[in-house]
Amino acid sequence: MTDVLEMNSGMQSKSTSTARMRVLSGIQPTGRFHWGNYFGAIRQYIELQDAGDAYYFIADLHALTTIREPERLRGFVRDAAIDLVALGLDPERATLFVQSDVPEVAELTWLLMTVAPMGLLERCHAYKDKKARGLTADAGLFTYPVLMAADILAYDADVVPVGEDQVQHIEVCRDLAGTFNHLYGDDIFRLPKPRLVDGAAKVPGTDGQKMSKSYGNTIEVFEDLPAQKKKIMRITTDSRSMEEPKDPQQDHLYQLFSLVGSKKEVAEMGELYRRGGFGYGEVKKAVVAAAKEAFAAARERRCELESKPSKIDEILAVGAERARIVAGNVLERAREACGLRGSSTRGRKQ
Ligand code: ADP
Ligand code: TRP
Repeated sequence: MTDVLEMNSGMQSKSTSTARMRVLSGIQPTGRFHWGNYFGAIRQYIELQDAGDAYYFIADLHALTTIREPERLRGFVRDAAIDLVALGLDPERATLFVQSDVPEVAELTWLLMTVAPMGLLERCHAYKDKKARGLTADAGLFTYPVLMAADILAYDADVVPVGEDQVQHIEVCRDLAGTFNHLYGDDIFRLPKPRLVDGAAKVPGTDGQKMSKSYGNTIEVFEDLPAQKKKIMRITTDSRSMEEPKDPQQDHLYQLFSLVGSKKEVAEMGELYRRGGFGYGEVKKAVVAAAKEAFAAARERRCELESKPSKIDEILAVGAERARIVAGNVLERAREACGLRGSSTRGRKQ
């Protein structure tokens, strides 16, 4: 993740040639975060908070396309905010907010919708996959990439760290921004670049497939320890004898251990695999212990945050306020450029 600051060198726009690179990403509150989310995405987002001017948001408008129970959605949003801060997202160093707290983004989505070709959206995988499965999609899912483009453009983002599955959406964002700029003026939207996070190597689930909510094979980061232990002790393993030496890299239990164990422990475990003569039960116990240790400090921070509910509300309110200033300016630029009434005419304060 070290080259972030060197990116986009050819496209620094007027106001930022000396400013820090703006990093932005969003994460959907569609369930409690699991190890795949953390090791594959969140950990890198948190690392990047020092590499640039970071904006991170909880994408509740996007989650509305899948979660239809208001109480569950509210709970997931709150948990996502608490989890992110407990895991190390520092509201002093990064701006953390909830997507729907910035209504400017919804208005910007409409402006972008007017330049979004149907064919481009038809090729986007979330919609295409659903259609291929014979399911009917709503317009929210169909236009999801346009909302995502507005999310990115509203904050003049330079770099968007995402998993591989989201790269297509960044391309759509660049396409829409390019068209809008071409029609109405070159320097309205800043074109962002995707930054593929290192976790593109997939975190395996308890059954060895990619860990995902949709496969029911997740280990949640802040799951109760006894429940987590049970899950880990039930991880599927192969049936080779205990005596047989094994290649650790081929084993998902070892891969999980390598995420939570210390360097030294992981190296020793690798040796044990190559030597043979061990039982998977021992490895599972080691995963349980290492996971407890790896997230102990985060769990403590989480407990503390939960005991002070107003603290998280305050963090999100401050984040939204900062985010709205940036998004308001970008929206104003776009509104005026395409011929809508400007703020001075309609009496809206900037
Ligand atoms: P899920 O598949 O559980 O619904 P999401 O699609 O909400 O997870 O994941 C959000 C982000 O977390 C993804 O864009 C991806 O970057 C990361 N991620 C999720 N699962 C994994 C995994 N098993 N390995 C690596 N990264 C993952
Ligand atoms: N669509 C992303 C996901 O499912 C979440 C997201 C929404 C996002 N808006 C974004 C990510 C803007 C990066 C930038 O993972």
